[in-house]
Amino acid sequence: MTLIWRESSMIALAGVAIQSKIYESSNSLVYRGIRVQDGRAIIVKMLKLDYPSPQELTRYRQEYEITRSLNIEGVVKAYSQQDYQRTLVILLEDFGGESLERWMQERSDFCPMLLPDFLPLAINITDILGRIHAANIVHKDINPGNIVFNPETGIVKIIDFGIATRFNHTNPTFKSLHVLEGTLAYLSPEQTGRMNRLLDYRTDFYSLGVTFYQLLTGQLPFPTKDVLELVHCHIAKQPPPTYDLNATIPKPISDIILKLMAKNAEDRYQSAWGIKADL
Ligand SMILES: Nc1ncnc2c1ncn2[C@@H]1O[C@H](COP(=O)(O)OP(=O)(O)O)[C@@H](O)[C@H]1O
Ligand SMILES: [Mg+2]
Repeated sequence: MTLIWRESSMIALAGVAIQSKIYESSNSLVYRGIRVQDGRAIIVKMLKLDYPSPQELTRYRQEYEITRSLNIEGVVKAYSQQDYQRTLVILLEDFGGESLERWMQERSDFCPMLLPDFLPLAINITDILGRIHAANIVHKDINPGNIVFNPETGIVKIIDFGIATRFNHTNPTFKSLHVLEGTLAYLSPEQTGRMNRLLDYRTDFYSLGVTFYQLLTGQLPFPTKDVLELVHCHIAKQPPPTYDLNATIPKPISDIILKLMAKNAEDRYQSAWGIKADL
């Protein structure tokens, strides 16, 4: 089968006035638009493939179902899902935010986030994650691209439940490196499938630790681009403490991040409320 990629940068969707494309990857396209019936600002997310497989469609439906089922202030709302040609689109809430990844890119010389900005944001994100876990969902892809922030209102929300699961424990199977689920630079040791360990909500704490690390230092704990080396680092290498990289980071904060990034899930925090209390 030949895969045909969507060529045009814009789409025509009934009832929606598309304004701009805000994201494109090999998997998805994301647009900003206005819902015509009520003039509401919305985000349109669609699969990029013109002919997605049944598995991809099932997974995409599941992403919508999980997002929709989470009635949490800090989780982006999913309004509806509709067919678009042979694929599917999801209409999501637009609260005027941008992903933290984009905020980092937009500052030309990425300067790390200052502590007075970081702390309230980190507490907020941790609180939302706690609520997601309380609803029995493991996100499995916490990273700055999946956290959306509006600095004018201070509102932050978690997005992208594309690989989230509803189970308490899952057994990650050994996958070849190019099909590992999640975003590699933020992937917990157990989520690499190379630890013979069950996966639970604490995988999200590791990814949260990497995210905090990057926000505060402006760099990743393991900056290598080599996939095999990166997986090895997650499993076996200690990251340099953040206060070694940036002397203005207080030791207690640096220690919280290292604890989040502990190799064994038992050595991490055991609940989001514990992280919140320490922050
Ligand atoms: N509700 C939203 N508000 C603002 N930006 C969004 C929203 N949803 C998605 N985006 C942007 O689109 C990007 C990709 O969306 P995401 O759902 O993470 O797709 P993928 O599954 O391809 O990672 C995000 O990193 C963010 O920049
Ligand atoms: Mg994403």
